[in-house]
Amino acid sequence: MINKCLFPVAGYGTRFLPATKSMPKEMLPILDKPLVQYGVEEAAEAGLHDIGFVTGRGKRAIEDHFDVSYELEHQIAGTGKEKSLEGIRALINACTFSYTRQINMRGLGDAILKGEAVVGDEPFAVVLADDLCIGEERGVLAQMVGLYNQYRCSIVAIEAVPEDQTSSYGVIDGEKISDSLVRVTNMVEKPAPEDAPTNLAIIGRYILTPDIFDILRNTEPGKNGEIQLTDALMHQANSGCVMAYKFAGRRFDCGSVAGYVEATNYFYENVFDEHP
Ligand code: UTP
Repeated sequence: MINKCLFPVAGYGTRFLPATKSMPKEMLPILDKPLVQYGVEEAAEAGLHDIGFVTGRGKRAIEDHFDVSYELEHQIAGTGKEKSLEGIRALINACTFSYTRQINMRGLGDAILKGEAVVGDEPFAVVLADDLCIGEERGVLAQMVGLYNQYRCSIVAIEAVPEDQTSSYGVIDGEKISDSLVRVTNMVEKPAPEDAPTNLAIIGRYILTPDIFDILRNTEPGKNGEIQLTDALMHQANSGCVMAYKFAGRRFDCGSVAGYVEATNYFYENVFDEHP
């Protein structure tokens, strides 16, 4: 059983400066809800109610979001505005929240290693909240938990991206198991298009088995001097098994301004239920 979901949220969000100078990028709203709340809702829907955050300096707004706000709630008690907080209240009641800090931002792999303190020795999910996903029928994490129960190995979500965009992603190659599943045999971090083995890019949803922590501890800094999760996953793929899953649904890269605007428009047209 997977119960835990880790949210590495310590990154600087440089693609969204100056908005992210003092505000966590994960608190950017799509319509009236911050990105991180969409991510926690997706985790809860998948049955993962123990939520862990790897935070960093300047990220306290995330902790405050998943807590009560007494003054505000007292102020709006008994008014129609209370309704706006129903969703977040239900989420707070359904989940537990733990926090640990990454002191030096040495990359996603390092952030996940810091998460060992809240995850312990069990399989867990990882959500990069700036990748906003809408699943078909059920959420992307719920789809992946189902697969984990079948294969019992680490699973990465993948998406076919335009070939000129491979340098923004970890890219996989492997043995096709079905239309939606590939057993990974190769993984390259942010390859130039001419070096990319495929156009199948890893997006911000993972299920990881806990041996990843020991591997990360022994992983040398890779591309950009950061501890790369991709390097550790490649180790797992070589010594055991990593599956790559073409999820059913749609993803928006809300860490970029263009993806953020696209998500905002999509949600306003298709998801928002309070058009004026
Ligand atoms: P990104 O590659 O999106 O980096 O990190 P970033 O710093 O958040 O954003 P840009 O590229 O500068 O605009 C992927 C995920 O890994 C987390 C980020 O918070 C994000 O969720 N991360 C990255 C950490 O937690 N720690 C790190 O040292 C690096």
